[in-house]
Amino acid sequence: MANTILVGAQWGDEGKGKVIDVLTEQADVVVRYAGGNNAGHTVLVGRIKYVLHLVPSGILRRGKLCVIGNGVVVDPVSLVEEIQTLRRLGVRVGENLVVSETAHVVFPYHRELDAQREVLKGKHRIGTTKRGIGPAYGDKAARVGLRVIDLVNPERLEEKLRLRIRENNEVLRALGAKPLSFRRVFDDYRRAGEFLKPFVGNTVILLHEMMQRGKDILFEGAQGTFLDIDHGTYPYVTSSNTTAGGACTGSGVPPHRMDRVVGVMKAYTTRVGEGPLPTEHAEIADMLHAMGREFGATTGRPRRCGWFDAVATHQAAMVNGLDEVAVTNLDGLDTMETIKVCIAYRRGRERFDYVPNDAQVLAECEPVYAEFEGWRTPTSGARRWKDLPAKARAYLRAIAELTGARLSLVSVGPGREQTIFV
Ligand code: IMP
Repeated sequence: MANTILVGAQWGDEGKGKVIDVLTEQADVVVRYAGGNNAGHTVLVGRIKYVLHLVPSGILRRGKLCVIGNGVVVDPVSLVEEIQTLRRLGVRVGENLVVSETAHVVFPYHRELDAQREVLKGKHRIGTTKRGIGPAYGDKAARVGLRVIDLVNPERLEEKLRLRIRENNEVLRALGAKPLSFRRVFDDYRRAGEFLKPFVGNTVILLHEMMQRGKDILFEGAQGTFLDIDHGTYPYVTSSNTTAGGACTGSGVPPHRMDRVVGVMKAYTTRVGEGPLPTEHAEIADMLHAMGREFGATTGRPRRCGWFDAVATHQAAMVNGLDEVAVTNLDGLDTMETIKVCIAYRRGRERFDYVPNDAQVLAECEPVYAEFEGWRTPTSGARRWKDLPAKARAYLRAIAELTGARLSLVSVGPGREQTIFV
């Protein structure tokens, strides 16, 4: 399979968990390279539904090495819980999971600040997952963060954490929030550090050793292109580089060792949280929610829904260098009579065939649509390309072509077997 980067080509929740799980079969190592437990990857194996937040979904397949890379921010208490839940479900988690010692740690003051800043922003809030992601990456950039290497060293943890709690308590008090007890946070984190110590290592050296031994690596992206801190709809973004470049910086594997980039996109568009979503449409949202679909894996929030936005996915193909696309949730459109695809944006007399950088301008854009006839046949039972209705195939070909990458996979349901290789 060679080294593959898998990214979300939209606003996150593209169904990456399922595609990663399918592609993992051909990989030896699976690496998470950005984000934190704001992500939620849902994988259905048989009748068991696994929701993974930090642990790469490769953990669900035997013999795969899973790595949480340096680019991730780790909430250790939540990671311990995730490992314990997986073990309770019968999943082996041992030396098959390695956590980078240079990944940054998320603390309760990050979560508290995340929540307080959202309140302060009022109607300009981002709609974050309140997992402390922004403040944790903020501390990393400001060089005041604690890393996993500090977490697993109780003396160092105590000394650094004391200072961080003192400073952050001042800020929390000023914001009218309750200060944190150093003792309580320290005890929880020391315990989590003790639990996680056997999992911690130098993942850069490990990944290079793996490559020297000819092993294939899958880089599992979290969130999506338009939530990228640089390439997304700033400020309505997450705080990491979710795009393909993040796979290099977030793992220590250089660009020339990457062999292909796969973008995952839904057959329509969704977004959770605030920020512009040009093709948003109540009719699709109501239909999908009534089907019990499109509720967030991490927060349970109903996702905002809209038509497929080819302006956005075309830009995603550019910034990620997409070689291939995997289209998920095709079956979500099975009942639609007419299906629209956004091919440009219009704002007054201006026409855009790219995503404007100003979120306010993007919010004022109206989509220009092309229309496709719906296939109005259930597709969830399709297993081969030729099982799909001709109109569905035409739609898939068109959205891949507008995106500018080769269609390699179609998903027609959450099960592993509901996957069509094109
Ligand atoms: P944060 O990452 O919690 O700071 O949230 C920032 C923005 O990214 C919000 O709009 C979130 O809803 C969105 N976001 C974060 N993680 C995910 C995800 O895994 N899927 C979809 N949206 C996400």
